[in-house]
Amino acid sequence: MIEHHKGNIIINFLVALVLLCMKYDFAFASAKVTCIEKEREALLTFKKGLIDHGGVFSSWRIENVENMKNECCKWNGVFCSNTTGHVTALLLPGNWSRDYYLEGNKISSSLLDLHHLENLDLSGNEFGGTKIPKFIGSLKNLRHLNLRQSNFSGIIPLQIGNIINLQTLDISSNDLLSENLNWLSHLSLLSRFDLSYCNISDPNWLQNILKLPSLQELYLQYSYFPEFKSTSLINSSSKSLSILDLTSTELDSSTFDWLFNVSTSLTKIYLSNNRIKGQIPDAFAKLNFLEYLDLSRNMLEGEIPKSLKNLSHLQNLLLAYNNLSGTLPEMMKSFGLRQLSLRGNNFTGSVPESLGQLSKLEFLDVSFNYLKGIISESNFKKLGNLKVLDLSFNSLAFNISPDWIPDFDLDVINLARCETGPGFPTWIRTQRSFSWLDLSNAGISSKVPKWLWSNLSPGVQYLNLSHNQISGTIPDFSPEMMFVSIDVSYNKFSGPVPLFPPSNWIFQLSQNMFSGPISSICDVSYGALALLDLSSNRLTGEIPNCWEQMSSLHILNLGNNSFSGAIPHGLGSLLQLETLHLRDNNLSGKLPSTLQNCSSLRMIDIGGNRLTGKIPGWIVGANFPDMTHLSFRGNRFRGSIPSEICSLTQIQMLDLSRNNFSGKIPQCFDNFGSLVDKSTINSGMIGISFQLTDYNVSSLNIVKDYIDYALVQWKGQELEYRRTLTLLKLVDLSGNRLVGDIPGSFSSLKGLISLNLSRNSLTGNLNHDIGQMEMLECLDLSSNRLSGTIPIGLARLHYLAVLDLANNDLTGKIPSSTQLQSFNASAFAGNSELCGLPLTLCPGDGPDPSTSNQFGDSDEEKDDGDGILTLSFLKEFGISIIVGFIFGFWGVVGSLLVKESWRRTYFSFWDGIGNWLYVRTTVLWTKLWIS
Ligand SMILES: *[C@@H]1O[C@H](CO)[C@@H](O)[C@H](O)[C@H]1NC(C)=O
Ligand SMILES: *[C@@H]1O[C@H](CO)[C@@H](O)[C@H](O)[C@H]1NC(C)=O
Ligand SMILES: *[C@@H]1O[C@H](CO)[C@@H](O)[C@H](O)[C@H]1NC(C)=O
Ligand SMILES: *[C@@H]1O[C@H](CO)[C@@H](O)[C@H](O)[C@H]1NC(C)=O
Ligand SMILES: *[C@@H]1O[C@H](CO)[C@@H](O)[C@H](O)[C@H]1NC(C)=O
Ligand SMILES: *[C@@H]1O[C@H](CO)[C@@H](O)[C@H](O)[C@H]1NC(C)=O
Repeated sequence: MIEHHKGNIIINFLVALVLLCMKYDFAFASAKVTCIEKEREALLTFKKGLIDHGGVFSSWRIENVENMKNECCKWNGVFCSNTTGHVTALLLPGNWSRDYYLEGNKISSSLLDLHHLENLDLSGNEFGGTKIPKFIGSLKNLRHLNLRQSNFSGIIPLQIGNIINLQTLDISSNDLLSENLNWLSHLSLLSRFDLSYCNISDPNWLQNILKLPSLQELYLQYSYFPEFKSTSLINSSSKSLSILDLTSTELDSSTFDWLFNVSTSLTKIYLSNNRIKGQIPDAFAKLNFLEYLDLSRNMLEGEIPKSLKNLSHLQNLLLAYNNLSGTLPEMMKSFGLRQLSLRGNNFTGSVPESLGQLSKLEFLDVSFNYLKGIISESNFKKLGNLKVLDLSFNSLAFNISPDWIPDFDLDVINLARCETGPGFPTWIRTQRSFSWLDLSNAGISSKVPKWLWSNLSPGVQYLNLSHNQISGTIPDFSPEMMFVSIDVSYNKFSGPVPLFPPSNWIFQLSQNMFSGPISSICDVSYGALALLDLSSNRLTGEIPNCWEQMSSLHILNLGNNSFSGAIPHGLGSLLQLETLHLRDNNLSGKLPSTLQNCSSLRMIDIGGNRLTGKIPGWIVGANFPDMTHLSFRGNRFRGSIPSEICSLTQIQMLDLSRNNFSGKIPQCFDNFGSLVDKSTINSGMIGISFQLTDYNVSSLNIVKDYIDYALVQWKGQELEYRRTLTLLKLVDLSGNRLVGDIPGSFSSLKGLISLNLSRNSLTGNLNHDIGQMEMLECLDLSSNRLSGTIPIGLARLHYLAVLDLANNDLTGKIPSSTQLQSFNASAFAGNSELCGLPLTLCPGDGPDPSTSNQFGDSDEEKDDGDGILTLSFLKEFGISIIVGFIFGFWGVVGSLLVKESWRRTYFSFWDGIGNWLYVRTTVLWTKLWIS
């Protein structure tokens, strides 16, 4: 029996071998078909007109070997008929990201000699803004034409309408115009048409397109077209159109007037990122074949209409980021729904158990709503196919038995802000292959279970356990893991800092009890690392010196630990570094001069150490064109403040307080452009955005934020400034040994909000035009040897909330104004010759208002309420701004979400900045897309 079986296998094998040989022979024979001489010449002429990047044409050679001479059918991208030898396809798509493309500003008309060409793909190349050549219309046999994203511009040639065999046409992502789409009328076979990123000015664009009798797929993403009148659509609806993509086309609510007349056979409708207001119309229920409906990112409101339950084919319902309200729909029960995205709406009530009946559901995202109540096993009863579960940012609490074994094996688990504690949710243990786990802010106060670490699959990309009370240690991560982001900050983790995998971009361990040295980070080369935050732990030893291995680092925060020794000179190799926090350690020695290489730096905070030496002359604007925040606070720096520092024209916060600086204050403070101009805000935005690679669904693009902060003396207290840091414009030179006058240039710092020069040995008068510093909220000049009278201008600083002039040699009468008199007497104490309210009245003082003019600086314009927001104004309204930058590769698209998600999550947000970000990222995206 066994023998017999064996024999069979051998026979099968032989038969297979023979078949294989025959096949091979056949293939060999077909490859021998030689290309037509004339067509070879045509191809060579085509090649001659183009520059080849990355070897597109490397195989396009004429060998001298007799037999090989005509083998142009083997050239890259050339395909011939295996019977006639004619070239039937020329497929030369470029790829910019691989630096593999063709460049030229003319396509040779020699292509016309390829009479049998059926398929032409020149997408992704660079044709330098040239027009699409008219002769293309003479390639009568073409069935597929792809010129996507190849930098063509100008008017789409009408001649394309002559290619009557055309079945697919993609001319998207170029800079094309179309005034008239009448030429489409001849293309009776066209089934797929992509005109995305095109400027269409034909008022009858939609009728002209819908007349195409075979059209099945129409893509018009990011296109511009004239407003459409529903009446003009009568009798022109398409019988065949199945896919309609109108993403990001600025459509408004009138869309619904015509949408339902476009085609009765629609299966997929993409309408996200438009301006559609109002309710979701019941008319969707008439589209019987609808499978995919994306209405995300509009302004829809009201409830999800019950009529949608008639859509028995519906599989994907994407309604994220609207203003929809009401409770979650019960009616979905009957659907074969696979994807339900309701993120970022106003849904209320509980998560209905009926959702747990959707046995085909793979993707469930109800995050960022106002859902309440308990989540139990019954919510997941039949969800055996679920892959993505996002319940984050509601008010949901989990009540799930520790023995529960769910039927699903999730890929994405996002339970941020869900009450899943106090114990660590044990069911997570049954999830073997997740790539995303977010349990931040989940009220977990137990020890981290050991299985969590051993369970992590190699594919896990994102782990967020931050803002809990989780204790325990974290073992080293295997270097093979694919992590992009690990955040365990704000917990009670202890033990040594674990090794993390080199793929990681983001590593946040701050606000824990990690201890010991971190020298082991030098054992791995972290080339991808962008954010390293180990602040507020108990780390000791020297700061390691292996930074050239982390050349992508943008943010480094080692503050509030017990690091000792010198600042390593290797930090100078971090050319991308934007933010350097080494505050509150035991660092000593001088600033390494290599730091001047870090020309991307915006913020240096090295306060609260024992650093010595002078401020180096290389701290100049030429080295640090973007520097906005500089804090040397609380060190042992000495010498004079070099005037070079004034060339940091973007500076908003200069804190040199509590050092041993001596000499005079440089005269050049009026060079600080950002402090002079009250409207400049050097805001950036730190947000590291990236996207989960497997899910090309907008609601899963996750944005990681990093909010920069500084410790400052603000209104008399040392405070950590986070949210409004970019608005804070501050100069603090207090607690040094500075002498001489307060330079007159200070008065030109019209944007300055806080000025502290206290506890020095400054002499001379107060500036008479101090009233020009109209944004000033805090002024502390106490404990100097200032003399003379208090200028009346001081009384005009409307925003002044903190004033301290105590312990000087000021004389005369305190100018009268409701403001100055409202300060405590202690603000003026210790000036023996000063009088008037709130101190004792001056001798012979009367209620004569003219006396107050003696200090007059009459040239000053009084302006109140010019619309500039003060810090306290902004604070009052809870408005905040986040410092930083955006970066990311494919993640850029994800950063479009920044505005929404941040607004809904941690911080309220200043819309102006939000829009700036939106514009910037959109532009960036469009650029990436088009270029
Ligand atoms: C020609 O060759 C291709 C690919 O080798 C093959 O798929 C096709 O069936 C062949 N056509 C004919 C007519 O032999
Ligand atoms: C370009 O090449 C990259 C890297 O090989 C690849 O990931 C990407 O999909 C390619 N793009 C296109 C449009 O083919
Ligand atoms: C297209 O080509 C023009 C002309 O060479 C050039 O200025 C432009 O930058 C190119 N556009 C893109 C998106 O590459
Ligand atoms: C589209 O083209 C017209 C000219 O035909 C021009 O006036 C208009 O500004 C363009 N629109 C966009 C969005 O580029
Ligand atoms: C639409 O078609 C019907 C019947 O074919 C015809 O009576 C009617 O006039 C047409 N309407 C328009 C606006 O062309
Ligand atoms: C939805 O919520 C937003 C933010 O809380 C609120 O401004 C808006 O008025 C709400 N809309 C409705 C229809 O309840």
